[in-house]
Amino acid sequence: MENEVDLFYRQMPKVELHAHLNGSVSFSTIEKLTARKPHLNIEHNMTAICSGQRRTLDECFQVFKVIHQLVDTEEDILMVAKDVIRQFADDGVKYLELRSTPREEKNTGMTRRSYVQTVIEAISQCGNEGLDIEVRFLVSVDRRHGFEVAMETVKLAEDFMLSTDGLVVGLDLSGDPTVGHGGDLLPALQKAKNCGLKLSLHMSEVPSQVDESELLLNIPPDRIGHGTFLHPEVGGAQSLVDKVTMNNIPLELCLTSNVKGQTVSSYSNHHFLYWYNKGHPVVICTDDRGVFCTELSREYQLVASTFGLSQEDMWSLSHKAIDYTFASASLKEQLHRRWLELRPSLFQTVPN
Ligand code: IMP
Ligand code: ZN
Repeated sequence: MENEVDLFYRQMPKVELHAHLNGSVSFSTIEKLTARKPHLNIEHNMTAICSGQRRTLDECFQVFKVIHQLVDTEEDILMVAKDVIRQFADDGVKYLELRSTPREEKNTGMTRRSYVQTVIEAISQCGNEGLDIEVRFLVSVDRRHGFEVAMETVKLAEDFMLSTDGLVVGLDLSGDPTVGHGGDLLPALQKAKNCGLKLSLHMSEVPSQVDESELLLNIPPDRIGHGTFLHPEVGGAQSLVDKVTMNNIPLELCLTSNVKGQTVSSYSNHHFLYWYNKGHPVVICTDDRGVFCTELSREYQLVASTFGLSQEDMWSLSHKAIDYTFASASLKEQLHRRWLELRPSLFQTVPN
């Protein structure tokens, strides 16, 4: 049974801006996938890091490899994407930017293009079901795959941005941060920016990436994923903080992901507080809600309880996040109106 606080955060309208498709697959969807592929002998502890457990970042990336084995056809992608969208809608998310790395699977004939096409199809089918959620898509570049694939992915993202009437809004740079150098991908990222794609870049997710972050911040990106080690107190640099603040670049913060992946030692040590206290734009996100066994409502609740923030403070964080989306100006306006409409029933008071 949900208690009052759980219910408050579930019912609070929310924006999710950092969600990797294959990291967001729930237990029930994994069960459907394992039933389709029993020969893989995949058990649930191989696809999720549950309560109380922690893994090294390297072990987290092994989990994605297992999920990718389970999700290797267009049929799988369609089911997974629709389930993930419905589950975010059930958690009170009204606007979702889903991201995923187009994958080619020689064995099943899936191509990078058919991968993206299938995600778009899932978004449009969910739209036809009348779910109370707007969904946009960011195409992910996996830093491990190098420059050629990055350029190909940017081209794909550009094509789909033009052909989907604005469903594809941007490009994400992600993948194991300990592999490769983001600087090698700069021309691809710059090309994406020049053609009108918004950029959300995973940055300073692990220590000792000051040089790489300097280069990425020079583009500059429209949002930053994690940014755990940007500030000088944790081995980053004041020059990085200055660039982030000067350009007012919002940070996507995913507390449970960082704690379970052990890049942050505890919830209370999370860099949320550093940026929040500065009054810098931050948005609470899940990263991989399936893998890390969390939900966006739970992340909001954790931030409130860890840092002693009120329900009003949390409302304000959720409301401001609308401005950090890559949605069109008219959709942002629509979302603002929606938030104000929903506010009285949530607080059961008359709004100011
Ligand atoms: P997919 O892109 O939908 O297949 O989602 C899984 C992929 O997202 C992983 O293989 C990584 O490339 C990326 N990813 C998920 N979580 C993280 C993270 O915390 N840091 C960097 N990359 C991540
Ligand atoms: Zn991420």
